[in-house]
Amino acid sequence: MDKIIVNGGNALYGIVAIGGMKNSALPVIAACVLTKDTCIIDNIPMVSDIKLLLDILAASGAEIRILSSTSVQINCKHMTPCSSPDELASQLRGSSYLLGAELGRFGEARVILPGGCSIGSRPLDFHMKAFEALGAQCSIVNGHLGAEAINGLRGNTIFFDKVSVGATVNAILASVLAEGTTVIENAAREPHIVDLAVFLNACGASITGAGTSVIKVKGVSELHGCRYSIAPDMIEAGTYMVAAATVGGRVTVTNVIPKHLESVTSKLVEAGVNVIVGDNYITVESNGKYNAVNIATQPYPGFPTDMQAQFSTMLCYANGTSRVTDNIFPSRFKFIDELTKTGATASVESNTAVIKGVERTGCAPLTCHDLRAGAAMVIAALRSEGESEITGIDKIERGYVDIVDKFANLGADIRLVRDMVAPTHISATN
Ligand code: UD1
Repeated sequence: MDKIIVNGGNALYGIVAIGGMKNSALPVIAACVLTKDTCIIDNIPMVSDIKLLLDILAASGAEIRILSSTSVQINCKHMTPCSSPDELASQLRGSSYLLGAELGRFGEARVILPGGCSIGSRPLDFHMKAFEALGAQCSIVNGHLGAEAINGLRGNTIFFDKVSVGATVNAILASVLAEGTTVIENAAREPHIVDLAVFLNACGASITGAGTSVIKVKGVSELHGCRYSIAPDMIEAGTYMVAAATVGGRVTVTNVIPKHLESVTSKLVEAGVNVIVGDNYITVESNGKYNAVNIATQPYPGFPTDMQAQFSTMLCYANGTSRVTDNIFPSRFKFIDELTKTGATASVESNTAVIKGVERTGCAPLTCHDLRAGAAMVIAALRSEGESEITGIDKIERGYVDIVDKFANLGADIRLVRDMVAPTHISATN
């Protein structure tokens, strides 16, 4: 089993260059299905979720060329709809974006009900509601969600009862080539939605209002290719910022859009951590001593649920008692049990963790339950005294590029141990 070994206690000093946002790259890659032309996408984080989505497209007939460690060329001219391999598509939530993209381009789509991180209930009812508002018929048969628009898709008003990133993405993807205008009300305002809209507009779409809660999509007859660079990953940046605050030291995250991180920055400042915000960088200075704060996750621009586990971990070492409420995924607290193994004092009541800060914790074998909780385990191990072994690191690799190297470059005593499986067969030819 692959694992990360950490000897905690080293303060972190240095600069971390932040890569492209996984949660933008997934919808942008799916959006390439909407055109027969070639698209080149730069600043892609080559994490396992992205590789999976590219593999799904390739298996469905798309031409994929990896141009560099962060650039990919995609051509979906010869793609066949409804052909995502189940064994790949079932592994990530982002495969659901192929529903909107294939429905928009071909008038039909079918994908196995997607997996992804286990962070609580993740239904697709809003996605289906959006497709149906545009004139499609949806069905769930044998664990697959199918959508079909026999008479084509027509623009309409789509109102979401609750803000959903994924459903907003799918509503945009399904409506860009529809006849007439679609108005998406109570839309998600996350930077990933803006990234998707800017990419699609660069391909000839007509989308206004992305970044606000009302998005208007005027259908166009076709899209062309373009070259596009993905926005920086605010969650990756936030993770290193919170790690620096927790462990102590002075860390600068570069290539970031500080505005995307305002909710995280303001909570760090409220806790008494020194934060310096530049044009495209943020520096966090900490001596590892800070105060308890309360957090409640909200859709953007509120505090992101994807930073909840990392910040909760930081608060395990705060002066005082914090309350952390997750309003987006109420049961996203499995990692708390891992933290208490190290001596942290925290308990969960309904959708709230009550965390009583302690000065020090020891170490314990830690397991990653999901992507962000996995990053939280690394932060806990960096602060704990002694050697920690973290398993289940495939979860971390879904969304963080080179996390071990990046922390090692900051001075952490951290290493990745790959489980080398002995070859069972040695070929006689090359
Ligand atoms: C996306 C992100 C994930 C992030 C989440 C919230 C990707 C690949 N994933 O997930 O990292 O944690 O946004 O910022 O970008 N809901 C329904 N019905 C639906 C859809 C959602 O009830 O059809 C509910 C969910 O259970 C949840 C809330 O709406 O309570 C928000 O979920 P949503 O924003 O859709 O999350 P994802 O798009 O799955």
